[in-house]
Amino acid sequence: MKTILFSDSAEDISSAAELIKKGEVVGIPTETVYGLGANALDEKAVRVVFAAKGRPADNPLIVHVADFSQAENYTSYIPSLAYKLADKFCPGPLTMVLQKNDKIPMVTSGGLDTVGIRVPSHAIMHKIIVESGCPIAAPSANISGLPSPTCAVHVMEDMNGRIAAVLDGGTSEFGVESTVISFETEDSVRILRPGAITKEMLLEICHEVIIDPSILKELEDGQEAASPGMKYKHYSPKANVIMVESSSADFRRFISENDGEKVYSLIYNSDEKDFPYNYMTYGETPLEQAHWIFQRLRELDSVGAETVYVRAPIKEGVGLAVYNRLIRAAGFEVIRI
Ligand code: TXA
Ligand code: MG
Repeated sequence: MKTILFSDSAEDISSAAELIKKGEVVGIPTETVYGLGANALDEKAVRVVFAAKGRPADNPLIVHVADFSQAENYTSYIPSLAYKLADKFCPGPLTMVLQKNDKIPMVTSGGLDTVGIRVPSHAIMHKIIVESGCPIAAPSANISGLPSPTCAVHVMEDMNGRIAAVLDGGTSEFGVESTVISFETEDSVRILRPGAITKEMLLEICHEVIIDPSILKELEDGQEAASPGMKYKHYSPKANVIMVESSSADFRRFISENDGEKVYSLIYNSDEKDFPYNYMTYGETPLEQAHWIFQRLRELDSVGAETVYVRAPIKEGVGLAVYNRLIRAAGFEVIRI
């Protein structure tokens, strides 16, 4: 299959929407990361998404709609707290897990009776949903296990020849996937996957926000994942990634003792001055680090890094999302100094 590369022209956006309507799979931009979009109601198209990614069939896809009111078409019950959250955070990087109805095929929901609903804010993605006229199932557009793509080039790297087209809508703003939440009680939610909508932001609306333990720790044998995605190895480049929780000075001392030809450090901008070993930087603030992390993991592979030591991000705000992705990229290998 030849994969077409679309631009962000109105004509190309319409062509991408048309392909999705016809049951094809298209790589599409969102404000978080690029998605692999297909008509969520079309089982055949959704199976192509799973096959193109090499994704386990029990890992559900998020369904993207143009406006939160459309969630009513695909769910059997929406708590009033969900509407309050939607007023505040939709469109945006928030996915709400709700009871699905029969319109959503079991293939799309990975066999679960729930469905994750998200209203993306990216203008092109919004147009594609409206023009295709279908709810769009879209996982991140990477091969399962690899870092999520934040630009069209990354999607092409992973998906060229596997899907009908990719639409180049520029670099994703946030760089990490949406915050996924489920509803615990009338006024509390559980974060299943952290993202740019932080615990602190959710607490403006919710009485309580629980951080699911799987976000920071490896699941123990037999422990059930609240979000199936959390049980798989993830976001991992070819290099062996190891997270180092330390000060800037201690990190530098550690690298001086563990340096090697194919050893790279991924450090904060402020660590960079006179850093005498192979390195890349990934910003300074949590938002910057979220924006750069997946791109840097891909770049580290392309320069042939075999071992990557990452100076751990702080776990506050969006930093929790960055930490969550990195600890998975590292296969839970953390050195604390
Ligand atoms: O920002 C995003 O969410 C991106 C863009 C493309 O929208 N999509 C994305 O999809 O990250 P994906 O499939 O790579 O990750 C979805 C995560 C998985 O960990 C999955 O297990 C979880 O959300 N998830 C989806 N539906 C769920 C459900 N019904 N219950 C629990 N977890 C769910
Ligand atoms: Mg993903």
